[in-house]
Amino acid sequence: MNTGILSSRHKRHTAEIRLRPFDPITGDIVVGVLEDGRPAVINVSNQSGVVVGGVPGSGKTVGMMLIVLSLLLSGITRVHVIDGKGGADWRWASTSGLDYSTDDTDAALSMLKRMHLKLRERLTSLPDEYGTSNWWNIHSRQRPPLEVIVIDECQLWFDLRHLTDLSKEHKEKCSTILSLATDLVRRGRSAGFILFVLTQKPTADSLPTNLRDNCGTRICFRVLTAEAGRAVLGDLPTGAPDPTTIPASRRGGAVITTDSGMTSMCRFAYMPEGEAERLICMYRTDASKHTAVINNCETGDTVQQAPSTRSTCAKCQGGLFFR
Ligand SMILES: Nc1ncnc2c1ncn2[C@@H]1O[C@H](COP(=O)(O)OP(=O)(O)OP(=O)(O)O)[C@@H](O)[C@H]1O
Ligand SMILES: [Mg+2]
Repeated sequence: MNTGILSSRHKRHTAEIRLRPFDPITGDIVVGVLEDGRPAVINVSNQSGVVVGGVPGSGKTVGMMLIVLSLLLSGITRVHVIDGKGGADWRWASTSGLDYSTDDTDAALSMLKRMHLKLRERLTSLPDEYGTSNWWNIHSRQRPPLEVIVIDECQLWFDLRHLTDLSKEHKEKCSTILSLATDLVRRGRSAGFILFVLTQKPTADSLPTNLRDNCGTRICFRVLTAEAGRAVLGDLPTGAPDPTTIPASRRGGAVITTDSGMTSMCRFAYMPEGEAERLICMYRTDASKHTAVINNCETGDTVQQAPSTRSTCAKCQGGLFFR
């Protein structure tokens, strides 16, 4: 039976972490282990943007999968994935019934327009409905869902200088995608929206500074140059961990920002795609048994808090509870 234990071999430590649902109160997501063997945690509390960069094969998508899983298992999150690579990397998400779009520009644009509209509606309605204009200040049991948007290989649309289709129409669509993404990050925090942007070409073109600078949480897997590291992490003080020193063999190795504003070297835990798919499917199958469900359909804006009784469910105990 699956125990929810993930393996992560660090340079000096071989460690196992237990995948935990995203903590809606602290905003913590456990992703792996730090160099000293303690859990590596990214914090998304009061954040609206997360930048993820690294060379091809460094572990971005697998790391993101872990984050998505943790968010979904909390039962209070809706996840929307745009896969700019258009390959099989996010197949598990599409087959698990997540809101999903491939590298089709029109489909990506349409999803972002839909999310942007929802953002605007929520910004207007939050104060009247919940008595506060900040989603993070609403009691965790009463919040509307945390809306999480993931754009994998965002450079496909963001890097306006290196577009594959040079037609005016395509350029305009890409420019709109970038504007919508930038505005989601600019205004999403208080509405309970978080955008994750992933790129294998971290440059100032693929991660424009007006977008990146509003992303409080940053994850830099292996990169080859200091410039690429800066494009993800920004300027770091002398002595900060250097993502160019991560060897190619250490997939999942990354520098992450912590909630104290510092950076740490860590190793992301690893879970095969099939396992993630199995966990999500199991959770969704059991949704009828539990009153709290991961609700990715567009009907009903309220997702209840995950019930504590889940841990006693005979069906999902093995795969879904990570204590
Ligand atoms: N944390 C990890 N521990 C061990 N192996 C890992 C880890 N993360 C990824 N890998 C291995 O590296 C491979 C590539 O990972 P992944 O697809 O996440 O890379 P990527 O950075 O998204 O690459 P690309 O930019 O090409 O999409 C995985 O298929 C897996 O075999
Ligand atoms: Mg990838």
